[in-house]
Amino acid sequence: MEKGKEFQPDDLLIWFDSLIPARGKGLDLGSGTGKNSLYLASKGLEVQAVDLSRKALNLLKEEAKELGLPVKTIRQDICQFPIPPSSFDLILCLGSLMFLDPDRIALLSLKIVEGLVPGGLLFCSAFTTQDPSFFSAERILKKISDRLFEGKDGRHLYFFAPGELESYFDGLQAVFYAEGHSLDLKHSLSHRHGWASLVARKT
Ligand SMILES: C[S@@+](CC[C@H](N)C(=O)[O-])C[C@H]1O[C@@H](n2cnc3c(N)ncnc32)[C@H](O)[C@@H]1O
Repeated sequence: MEKGKEFQPDDLLIWFDSLIPARGKGLDLGSGTGKNSLYLASKGLEVQAVDLSRKALNLLKEEAKELGLPVKTIRQDICQFPIPPSSFDLILCLGSLMFLDPDRIALLSLKIVEGLVPGGLLFCSAFTTQDPSFFSAERILKKISDRLFEGKDGRHLYFFAPGELESYFDGLQAVFYAEGHSLDLKHSLSHRHGWASLVARKT
């Protein structure tokens, strides 16, 4: 297989593809079915994919095996996953931090910063208060605090305020930070999302 050509990863990985190292260790926190893990592995990284969903991880495990790509799946809460200091060349947190409460986001972000090797990269994105679901959450979910909600399954949904995502990672040097909204044409009917995206490097 031609390296890195077969997958449709997150746009952030495509935009900053040239920064992705050709080898090393990658960590995908909240990998889901692992489109980003597979992409990194296809580019030469050894990837550990962490998620709570057994179903998603089984799909990822099967696909990685079929393609012969080095992705190790780990079913664990991303906040409990031990990240040894200076151990990863690249960490992904794409669309997963927003399922944590702010205290856990703060603790995990410190572990992420510590867990990167010098020169290592973080790719991170999350919904912001610009997301239309922020307004519907008021009606549908239990409100815990200003921007934190709880679903019937007890899971949290947190909407980042302007500038907030970047602030958790001020121990890193931002390569790119943007907030905005865009149409999501990838699944179901087209709908809009409000997001914050960060690419940052450990100096
Ligand atoms: C919106 S999906 C994003 C998946 C993937 N990162 C992507 O970009 O396609 C969020 C994922 O985070 C996982 N997740 C949410 N909270 C988690 C937690 N505390 N620990 C582990 N995984 C979690 C969910 O199971 C889900 O697969």
